[in-house]
Amino acid sequence: MATTAKLELDGKTVELPIVIGSEGEKAIDISKLRASTGFVTLDSGYMNTGACTSAITFLDGEKGILKYRGISIEELSDKVSFIECSYLLIYGHLPNQTELKNFREGIKYHSLIHEDMKNFFNTYPSHAHPMAILSSMVCSLSAYYPELLKPDQTEEEKNGTITRLISKVRVLAAFAYKRSVGHPFVYPKNELDYVQNFLHMMFAVPAEPYQMDPVAVKAINLLLILHADHEQNCSTSTVRMVGSAKANLFASLSAGICALWGPLHGGANQEVLEMLEAIHADGGGYKKFLDKAKDKNDPFKLMGFGHRVYKNFDPRAKIIKKACDDVLQKLGVNDPILEIAKGLEETALKDPYFIERKLYPNVDFYSGIIYRALGIPTNMFTVMFAIGRLPGWIAQWKEMIEDPQMKICRPRQIYTGQTNVKFVPIEKRS
Ligand code: CMC
Repeated sequence: MATTAKLELDGKTVELPIVIGSEGEKAIDISKLRASTGFVTLDSGYMNTGACTSAITFLDGEKGILKYRGISIEELSDKVSFIECSYLLIYGHLPNQTELKNFREGIKYHSLIHEDMKNFFNTYPSHAHPMAILSSMVCSLSAYYPELLKPDQTEEEKNGTITRLISKVRVLAAFAYKRSVGHPFVYPKNELDYVQNFLHMMFAVPAEPYQMDPVAVKAINLLLILHADHEQNCSTSTVRMVGSAKANLFASLSAGICALWGPLHGGANQEVLEMLEAIHADGGGYKKFLDKAKDKNDPFKLMGFGHRVYKNFDPRAKIIKKACDDVLQKLGVNDPILEIAKGLEETALKDPYFIERKLYPNVDFYSGIIYRALGIPTNMFTVMFAIGRLPGWIAQWKEMIEDPQMKICRPRQIYTGQTNVKFVPIEKRS
């Protein structure tokens, strides 16, 4: 294969290096193009731009393949815990027993948040969206760790920050929920594992012991793994962008959480459930909603369908659809919303509009039905996504700041505004 690409510009030939990834992905390195030609490339929405090289996650959208550190998502979702998966993403290999024990212990013993932070929760209105609370709280956490904020941390300091964040984010998430329902906060218990502790903090109430359902623990573990990384998506690119200015990890993650909240990204899981509920309330017929989604004069989209990268199927959606059936059956939940989702998917997949545009259900299409069956309220769905995505964001941030070639992210633009406008003093302006 050629090692350079040739570009003809103004009668001159420019040679650009070709970069090949370990799974055969091909790129043309244009980083020196402007210096040698004066041209930049224009790619609105980064449809065709590789922003970095990365050894964390591989996905092939045409074939429906997703791997973390070379291991398929099908295998990981079946065989590891979320904490093992987090270690794999962040440190590049599956932990041995000692590594896993140390990682778990660190997460266990850093689970408390400063008592003063409880006051922050109490000043939010009870209807505040938990994503607003979570993003602010993650940034606010930084105020309690001034020693962890310097841009060039030692390995030990970095690991301390990472462990604290993984542990505390689920506490902040559960506290945000408790605040929204007006219940007292429930503190983590060290004898419980990561997911059990989260469920305990979410659902335990002082009046009675909380009966942990292993089906719920398994389902949450699976969902967190499936959301754990997805290479250079909008929120991950945000984390990298903010981190590239050497902003601290708390600030970078807080920005990522805000990006994730958007309904075209992680916020879609809440939108899907609201859409399915609207279809149910409308009598259950989905033709009207499919017609709206296809109507170019209507802003409505079929939420949970379509993906920038997957043009075949989203492997995560396949796993979640199956889990959805299993979980609802094991919990004895009969949810009419699941039947609506299945019917809607089947009809959309036969519709030429969706076939021509290669629109398939994505990770958000069925996840909300599982969360709902577990008693997690709709406005917490994107928070669940954020807890899952946390190790991926951290791994991507770590990879970037440890790269000796790291540069601040700073895209170019093509200016299309007015030129040489004469200044008019205010008294003469019409
Ligand atoms: N419903 C109806 N039409 C759609 C949909 C949809 N959900 N998604 C894409 N299209 C159409 C779109 O209108 C366009 O049509 P045309 O070619 O006639 O203009 C065509 O399909 C290509 O779509 P696009 O918007 O150019 O594709 P994109 O890569 O820019 O956007 C997307 C990807 C995920 C933002 C989009 O498919 C979408 O808005 N889906 C609904 C929101 C959603 O489920 N988001 C979650 C994504 S997965 C979780 C995550 O990792 O973020």
